[in-house]
Amino acid sequence: MDKAPRLIDPFARAITYLRVSVTDRCDFRCVYCMSENMTFLPKKDLLTLEELDRLCSAFIGLGVEKLRVTGGEPLVRRGIMTFFRAMSRHLESGALKELTLTTNGSQMARFADDLAACGVKRVNISLDTLDEEKFARITRWGRLRQVLNGIDAAQKAGLRVKINTVALKGFNEDELFTLQEWCAGRDMDLTFIEVMPMGDIGNEDRLDQYWSLKDLRARLEERFTVTDLAERSGGPASYVRLHETGQKIGFITPLSHNFCESCNRVRITCTGEIYTCLGQEGKADLRAPLRAHPEDDAPLIEAIQAAIATKPRGHDFDYSRGDVMGRMSRHMSHTGG
Ligand code: 5AD
Ligand code: SF4
Repeated sequence: MDKAPRLIDPFARAITYLRVSVTDRCDFRCVYCMSENMTFLPKKDLLTLEELDRLCSAFIGLGVEKLRVTGGEPLVRRGIMTFFRAMSRHLESGALKELTLTTNGSQMARFADDLAACGVKRVNISLDTLDEEKFARITRWGRLRQVLNGIDAAQKAGLRVKINTVALKGFNEDELFTLQEWCAGRDMDLTFIEVMPMGDIGNEDRLDQYWSLKDLRARLEERFTVTDLAERSGGPASYVRLHETGQKIGFITPLSHNFCESCNRVRITCTGEIYTCLGQEGKADLRAPLRAHPEDDAPLIEAIQAAIATKPRGHDFDYSRGDVMGRMSRHMSHTGG
């Protein structure tokens, strides 16, 4: 069945993937993401659960088929299961094809069954190291055991788990094969993310040391037959298959731009701003039309369409990498990863 309205941007790309941040808060303080004493947004600035429902439902009505819930840490948002339950109605109607989340796993033991009951099939869980001491150091407030329990619970609930690892030179380089083997043993895919300096996270903890994903791939080739997979997610990830384990390994280079022509996504912050490109500052406010018209979605839909009409072709290629990143003042926990 063909859905009538579609969100098509000026470069003929259909917007079918929405990433929505439901909180800027987190129970961890990863050094590449937050400062130790973060100031979070006042509650009144956040979209309420009802507003999140209206907003996401409007996007789904306009052709969004995949919804990813992010943060901050989405599972620390109070009442978040109400939102997941609300979204599951769109899975049941068939309008939404996939409901998923990116989480640090800390609360997963509490929520895995509920998430599965809401129709969530896959989750991305962030994990940078399997070493307890290093885990405590990189997340500052996190404990490895808690996350491993969360991963167990997710798998037990029947959720397919993908591990996201931020590649950090001098930190987890030595764990490439440990992580890969551990994931293979648990039938989990693994994706490495190139670290992006974002937000003001305090200089003393700033990790400027890239572990180039090219180097990472070359190292995998020392041990495995690595074949490129054509599959793309419409985003900055590319995938390879390790022949010997059958495992899929992903690489996310957020600031590369070779994927822009197939970009299918937009992001919503926890305050209801829409960002139409991760690599650019362009944004629009959707909270105002939501709040000004509590009973009428027409102005919201108009604002969404107007924002999509400004989606840029891609990142600014003319900037050197450093310049582009210098321009990115916002926090990952605000826009969502
Ligand atoms: N660079 C790369 N990835 C980051 N994340 C958070 N901050 C950064 C950053 N500066 C990742 C988390 C998680 C996802 C939500 O975003 O590790 O995998
Ligand atoms: Fe929390 Fe994820 Fe940021 Fe770590 S990277 S502080 S887990 S939002």
